[in-house]
Amino acid sequence: MLKILAPMAGYTDIAFREICQEFEADETVTEMVSAQALVHGDRKTKTLLKISDKEKNVTVQIFGHDPDIMAEATRILEDYDFKTININFGCPAPKIVKGMNGSYLLKEPTLVYDIVKAVVSSTNKPVTCKVRKSFDGVDALKAIKNIEKAGASEVIVHGRSREEFYTGSADWDYIKNVKDTLTIPVIGNGDIFNPEDALRKIKYSGVDGVAIGRGSIGNPFIFRQIEELILHGDYYRPTVEEKLNVLKDQLAREIAYKGERLGLIEMRKVYSYYFKGMKNSKEIRNKLNTLTDLDEIINIIDDYAKNFID
Ligand SMILES: Cc1cc2nc3c(=O)[nH]c(=O)nc-3n(C[C@H](O)[C@H](O)[C@H](O)COP(=O)(O)O)c2cc1C
Repeated sequence: MLKILAPMAGYTDIAFREICQEFEADETVTEMVSAQALVHGDRKTKTLLKISDKEKNVTVQIFGHDPDIMAEATRILEDYDFKTININFGCPAPKIVKGMNGSYLLKEPTLVYDIVKAVVSSTNKPVTCKVRKSFDGVDALKAIKNIEKAGASEVIVHGRSREEFYTGSADWDYIKNVKDTLTIPVIGNGDIFNPEDALRKIKYSGVDGVAIGRGSIGNPFIFRQIEELILHGDYYRPTVEEKLNVLKDQLAREIAYKGERLGLIEMRKVYSYYFKGMKNSKEIRNKLNTLTDLDEIINIIDDYAKNFID
């Protein structure tokens, strides 16, 4: 059962991908990268393409709507150590959609076919696609069938419409229907927040794997826990101390890869996830978010772990 760390802009950087891999995510995906920016040699885009020596199975995600540019970007990516190229047909953000990218393309099945074909023809690596269930009331199924026809080797389906963004609940009936329709592997995505969610959704839909986004932030343990639940019917729950050790580990890696100033800023959005469900989590998060001194931050986390009583 394939367990993938879903791409998340602002979150799935090297530090977090490494940690998820260590907790048995079989595959991780970069933040999305603009094919156009890549072709133009944009510096910030190149930073997003860095991977570390420790990473074993990283997929790069690209977005764009021009088949020629997508093909050129794919050829550039041949020089990188990514195992797979993923095309983003799911992003709902207004800026992306206005540029005729991401989920907008789901209502243009012929263009989807041309894009996938162009990318597949430009690489020997497997090409996968990530989709939502609809855009503007147009069912994505035609586009999804064309993704398969054009030679993609897998599709990740997020069971929400573009208009839902991240609200409501993911439609696993839709995901099941795609699984029943296609021959290539289908990965289900949406609302897996604990191992039981994963197992229930896998059993219901028959998917070949799951991609986990929000449920992994501050909770990379979920990948190993799913594996344990499948194999042994139960799973290990980390203690507060173990959780906070992983938080410190992520902090150390962010700093190693991005420098202390940026690393500390990047961590601010994840503290609350690691402290979720713990006593005084709000206070501690607010405190950590005001601090700029690394030693002070570590002392606070250590003190919290030491004094925590269930
Ligand atoms: C902060 C954030 C950033 C995201 N960035 C991307 C992205 O760059 N590419 C993409 O295909 N999906 C992106 N997504 C969507 C996720 O990959 C995933 O499809 C969605 O969150 C539903 O899965 P979940 O319920 O497991 O979080 C993002 C989601 C979030 C919350």
